Amino acid sequence: MRKQIAAANWKMNLTKPQAEQLLNMLLDQAPELTGSQEVVLAVPFPYLMWVMERISGRSGYRVAAQNCHHKVAGAFTGEVSAPMLASLGVSDCVLGHSERREYQQESDSLLAEKVDRCLEVGLRPIFCCGEPLSIREAEGQNDHVGGQIRAGLFHLTADAITKVVIAYEPIWAIGTGRTASADQAQEMHAHIRSVLADQYGDVVAASISILYGGSVKASNATELFGLPDVDGGLVGGASLQADEFVQIIRSLA
Ligand code: PGA
Repeated sequence: MRKQIAAANWKMNLTKPQAEQLLNMLLDQAPELTGSQEVVLAVPFPYLMWVMERISGRSGYRVAAQNCHHKVAGAFTGEVSAPMLASLGVSDCVLGHSERREYQQESDSLLAEKVDRCLEVGLRPIFCCGEPLSIREAEGQNDHVGGQIRAGLFHLTADAITKVVIAYEPIWAIGTGRTASADQAQEMHAHIRSVLADQYGDVVAASISILYGGSVKASNATELFGLPDVDGGLVGGASLQADEFVQIIRSLA
């Protein structure tokens, strides 16, 4: 059984007092999870230790970094490595978010290296993919996303790729209030799973959680998370409101 995951992506939001207020409200209302459900909080680097301490003892609650460097260590001022994160006890790392692909020029080959750095130290990559509007309008989304998955992940063994979570986030739906329709989301998630199955077989493909991201909110989470190939969501804006995110957690299948 693959995991059903509600992942919060705080991005570069919230001062420490604001984050404390949000986390207090969230943990006050946060539901207990079943064995197949998880909540992941992807928070800014300075808050990792503190959020890990706050959620410790809560089964199924995990903390993610939003990025890591592609080298193990060295003269890279201002960067954070996967071994550093693992040594703190961080469990997950978001990789290849479209904002990093766009603003930091992160390429598929660079992301393949980051995936390796994470897996070497036991960090679970949450590997993001998704097409811009121009490609969706030209109906090239399947090739585009399939290409991102192949270039970023297909160097992995079957055993290694089962340790990865994939997040499909159509760029035109991120922060725009415009969500992919249920049909669009299911179609792409099924496509991603078939791309995985072609390379690794049905059993491996069926074991990988594929999250949907892009304007997920309390009002659409139940429909999206109920789709056969959607295993939860990566949530930006709505994860900054405790009530909304708690509702989203409760929408997990
Ligand atoms: P959004 O962001 O929920 O605000 O659209 C999602 C994301 O970028 O992960």
